[in-house]
Amino acid sequence: MWPELAQLKADFDQALASAGTDPQRLEEVRIRFAGRKSGALRLLEEQLKRLPKEEKPTFGKELNQLKAYIEEQLAVALAQVRQARGVGEQVDVTLPGRKPALGALHPVTLVRREIEDIFLRMGYSVADGPEVEDDWHNFEALNIPPDHPARDTQDTFYLPGGLLLRTHTSPVQIRTMEAFRPPIRVIIPGRVYRRDSDLRHSPMFHQVEGLVVDEGVSFAHLKATLEAFVHRLFDPSLQVRLRPSFFPFTEPSAEVDITCVLCRGGGCGVCSGSGWVEILGAGMVDPRVFRAVGIDPVRYTGFAFGLGLDRVAMLKYRIPDLRLLFSGDERLLRQFPGGLAR
Ligand code: FA5
Ligand code: MG
Repeated sequence: MWPELAQLKADFDQALASAGTDPQRLEEVRIRFAGRKSGALRLLEEQLKRLPKEEKPTFGKELNQLKAYIEEQLAVALAQVRQARGVGEQVDVTLPGRKPALGALHPVTLVRREIEDIFLRMGYSVADGPEVEDDWHNFEALNIPPDHPARDTQDTFYLPGGLLLRTHTSPVQIRTMEAFRPPIRVIIPGRVYRRDSDLRHSPMFHQVEGLVVDEGVSFAHLKATLEAFVHRLFDPSLQVRLRPSFFPFTEPSAEVDITCVLCRGGGCGVCSGSGWVEILGAGMVDPRVFRAVGIDPVRYTGFAFGLGLDRVAMLKYRIPDLRLLFSGDERLLRQFPGGLAR
């Protein structure tokens, strides 16, 4: 082989090997050796023209063989590049795979589960009931008379056929007592609906109802239960305050506040500067409710409570605005990856 040709072949092999499957470097190799205007092969073709007659045939033949070799090698290398690239897009097969995004539990779900765990450990069962209710369960059996303001169309979403969206979880107290005899110890988490919408109120929100019915159940049991619950859910340094209140289905009744978890009682926007936040309503089951479900109010007493789950979630996870909970904003949910473990 002619020394120039042998040298060119060696240079080409080396350049091709070092370019690998990098398309840009392969293109540089192609231009350098097989480029039309001034590639090395093209220059040798010029040289061929100036050779003495007797040398032309052998040089020409070897040059043609070398040209065929270089073109074939380039074609093979380019085919490899195309294969590595896929269709129209460059894929680096050495990149680590992209992990699928894991879901997270909503803060309301997290708090509901935590509350369920606390009460399950205290010996309660978890019950539920329908969100579409009738007048009897949502109002009548709970001693809410027909002229009570809570029945106002301002507050209640009425449905055709005398039905309504339950305005609280208390109707499930009635359903539970219709189905089971005392002793009863249940909590009932669920969605409730009111024509209510502002910074602290949402038309759909969540409550957890609690109901205990047995012989000898007293207000002291209610208070101790709520304190134990609040101390476990938040921390034992929080104070619980009972304010006298009124509910048609409990007597006596109380509204229960806890020290504002955000400001520790100092006063902030969430507690409107008072240092306290209302989390639930509670009381001793009214004898009229027992009579409505056929439970003897002389033999049995009981307590009930209705907790605002969303408010508790806000306090627990320091969420400043109730509406964030229902905004569907993924950025909120992404902050709760711990929700995956139970
Ligand atoms: C009731 O709904 C009673 N059924 C609670 C009850 C049950 C009392 C058993 C006695 C015995 P109230 O309307 O106050 O009560 O609501 C209870 C809790 O739900 C409130 O303390 C509050 O935390 C929460 N809450 C009420 N309205 C809303 C709303 N629109 N958005 C978010 N949370 C609310
Ligand atoms: Mg209230």
